[in-house]
Amino acid sequence: MGLLTGALPDFPWDTLAPYGARARAHPGGIVDLSVGTPVDPTPPLIRAALAEAADAHGYPLTHGTPELRQAVVDWFARRRGVPGLDPQAVLPTVGSKELVALLPALLGLGDGDVVVHPATAYPTYDVGARMAGATPLPADDVAAWGDAPVRLVWLNSPGNPDGTVRSVEQLRAVVDAARAVGAVVASDECYAELAWEEPWTTDGVPSILDPRVSGGDPTGLLAVYSLSKQSNLAGYRAAFVAGDPRLVGSLLEIRKHAGMIVPAPVQAAMTVALGDDTHVDAQRAVYRVRREVLRAAVTGAGLVVDGSQAGLYLWARPAGEPVDCWTTVGRLAERGVLVAPGAFYGAAAAHHVRIALTATDERVAEAARRLLGPLDSSGPAGRG
Ligand SMILES: Cc1ncc(COP(=O)(O)O)c(C=O)c1O
Repeated sequence: MGLLTGALPDFPWDTLAPYGARARAHPGGIVDLSVGTPVDPTPPLIRAALAEAADAHGYPLTHGTPELRQAVVDWFARRRGVPGLDPQAVLPTVGSKELVALLPALLGLGDGDVVVHPATAYPTYDVGARMAGATPLPADDVAAWGDAPVRLVWLNSPGNPDGTVRSVEQLRAVVDAARAVGAVVASDECYAELAWEEPWTTDGVPSILDPRVSGGDPTGLLAVYSLSKQSNLAGYRAAFVAGDPRLVGSLLEIRKHAGMIVPAPVQAAMTVALGDDTHVDAQRAVYRVRREVLRAAVTGAGLVVDGSQAGLYLWARPAGEPVDCWTTVGRLAERGVLVAPGAFYGAAAAHHVRIALTATDERVAEAARRLLGPLDSSGPAGRG
């Protein structure tokens, strides 16, 4: 019997463990900027909604309560420039990672099908393609698809790890190319509320369902969104997918069969979270300050920040000649600062490191102090 794990890459985080040990040995303790897990409290109004819904004796709706689906529709209209979404075409998911991993299989893809994902990417797009028996194709440019039998195209804007945002025109070009070959476009937009640079701070980060992108027709398009980051809800597993009513209907059918249901109290909490912009604005302000402190420290320590216009990471590399990402990880670990190597995100990223903004103000200040403090001959990120 062939085990599915045989088709999957090794879990990369294990290889970071020795650097974590080195960083933990720092007298001031580790500053862990390697993972993007929220560290601030879940807002009280969301916790109250969860507690209020704690009596959940019956099975929840796989499709989500009408209130939750309407809250998603209202959020798209209010925050994402997507008016008139069909509430039938909304489906909650148990966080978005499971959907990313399972979507190729849920769409019926398999041997001989190609799943395109960004060249430098969150690893789960690749994993999901492999789990379905399909072939992953890392490519940013539609020209790279060639004659490949592309069935699904993943977009991730703002991107993890590099924080780049795709414009309406760039999204539209991918949608046109995908429609020309009958491929589905799934757009993972979980950092959309965390924009730092113009024009995205003013205009908002475009969604795949924006009528300027979709032409007002969601056919073949799915937007994937998560409340983990914007609302400090990673532990709730609170996310949704929305878009093409036929595709969402088909996902719903399978998920009903398989019992893939968001718990009722989490559905209630999501409904409240999506209706409240105040806590999202407050959280964004917290991250903005952390980002500025870290950015100044990182550049002061001789690194260059690329992309990173939005999202929860600084995508950085030493100035000048390319340096292998593990060397930079090691030098920062000597300072007790743990970051993620670009190699986790694809071959094209071997010279970058990903520095997460998800640490407390105290730890971020400590990281800045260490990065800007007196250096040895090479410096923490230096070339020595
Ligand atoms: C690009 C991207 N997609 C999806 C996820 C998964 O988020 P969650 O499963 O918490 O909804 C993450 C988490 O880091 C991410 O960075």
